[in-house]
This record gives sequence, structure tokens and C-alpha cells, in this order.
Amino acid sequence: MDTIKIPKHIAIMMDGNGRWAKKRFMPRTFGHRQGSKTLENICKDTYDLGVEYLTVYAFSTENWSRPKDEVEGLMNLLKEYLNKIVKMSINNNMQVKIIGNVKKLDNEFQSLINNLEKATANCTGLKFQLALNYGGKDEIIRTTKKIALECLNNKIDVSIINEDLFASHLDTTDIPEPDLFIRTGGEKRLSNFLLWEMAYTELYFTDVLWPDFKKDDLGKAIYDFSKRDRRYGNVIE
Ligand code: IPE
Ligand code: IPE
Ligand code: MG
Repeated sequence: MDTIKIPKHIAIMMDGNGRWAKKRFMPRTFGHRQGSKTLENICKDTYDLGVEYLTVYAFSTENWSRPKDEVEGLMNLLKEYLNKIVKMSINNNMQVKIIGNVKKLDNEFQSLINNLEKATANCTGLKFQLALNYGGKDEIIRTTKKIALECLNNKIDVSIINEDLFASHLDTTDIPEPDLFIRTGGEKRLSNFLLWEMAYTELYFTDVLWPDFKKDDLGKAIYDFSKRDRRYGNVIE
């Protein structure tokens, strides 16, 4: 039997919370809450399966345009989650980083993020990135500005700008590009996630709604990935 190739880095777009709640005649926030429980389980499952890096999309730069009460509900839930996972992350040896336009979030977020990142900085297990107020285009613009400032301050010369230099200024610096992208909820688009980083990522779409996503579904995605022939990116033998 062929051995299964395990992706080193999986990126997940956790979609379908609203529809999951609607099917139960419940408010969308109920779906988001259930989704956050799914995420706690999937973090453990991902590491159990031998994956080293997991990046998940929790809130996009576009999500601000949702109804005010949903945005408020999501912000409260995210704050609760950032607080809640400190202990769980340490117990599971998970190193957590927040990516996205974090500076635009309120002070409470800043201290929760600081606390979580510091508390888990020395963990050596799963490297877990949570994308919060994240947009791929926004990340590319912020990165461009960082590099432009370094040029203006004579720290670097324009001539040395290349793909490696650009990547090292992204939010995902030091994190290998995702090998496998999973989107739950049935939509087949990237919705502004990791645009630079996923130039050669294998894409996998499933109709399973995020709150229903289980270790078996993760296994199916990895199995599907394992059968693909990769020419570029991180070719796993
Ligand atoms: C994804 O679920 C979670 C977030 C975007 C925060 P949705 O809220 O998009 O759920 P659907 O797609 O409407 O079912
Ligand atoms: C993408 O899901 C963003 C997150 C999962 C955080 P959306 O539900 O917001 O994406 P669109 O609007 O369907 O493209
Ligand atoms: Mg959606």
C-alpha cells in the first residue's frame, strides 16, 4: 500500500457557520460558537495526523460589512476564544500567532493577542496561525509599505527586492507556504485568503459545513492531497 503524504502546512477557510445555524432555526452567532468548538478539536486532530502548521481564516477584511449585530457577536466570540485557548494551547504545546491587520483591532484585542502569543511562544508542537481582520490584498499592501519605508530610510536598496525578500516581510514570515487549502461550506473561491502564499497550494473544497467538520473529513482531504502529483511548492515524497 502507498504511504500517505502528509501536508506540512494546511490552510482552512472555515465556512458555513451561518447555514449550519439556519438549518436549526438558530441565529448565525450560534453557528459561529459551534464553529469555534470545531476549531479546538481540529487543531488537536491536525497535529495528531502529523501536520506541522495550521492556518485558519477567522475574520476577513470583508466581513466588517456584515450586519452590525453579527459583527459584534463575532468580535465577542473571538475575544472569548483568544482568552479560552491560552490554557488549551499550552497543554497541547501549540504555538499561536495572529496574522492580519491586527493594529486596526481595539485595545482589548491587542492585549488578548499579546498575552496568547507570549504564553505560547516557546511551545514546540503545532504552529497555529489565526487570521483575524485578514485580507490577502491588504497583507500585500501592508508588506509593500514596509518595504517602501525600508527603501526610503536607506535600509535596503530597491535592486534587492525579490520574492524571498517580499515573503520575509509578510505576516507569514518564517511559515512555509500552505501545501493544502481546505474550504468547507461548498463555495469554491479564495475569498481574499493568503493570496501570495497560496500561489501553488493544492485546493480542496467540501460541502461539509464547518461546525460539522470532523477528523474523518480532515483525513479525506489529506488522502485526496496525497494522491496529487505536485510539480512546484513543497513536494513531499
Ligand atoms: C464562516 O461562516 C465564518 C465567518 C465568515 C466568520 P459564514 O458566517 O460565512 O457562514 P455561511 O457561509 O453564511 O453559511
Ligand atoms: C470567508 O468566508 C471568510 C472566513 C471564513 C473568515 P465568507 O463566507 O466571508 O466568504 P464569502 O463572502 O462567501 O466569499
Ligand atoms: Mg460564508
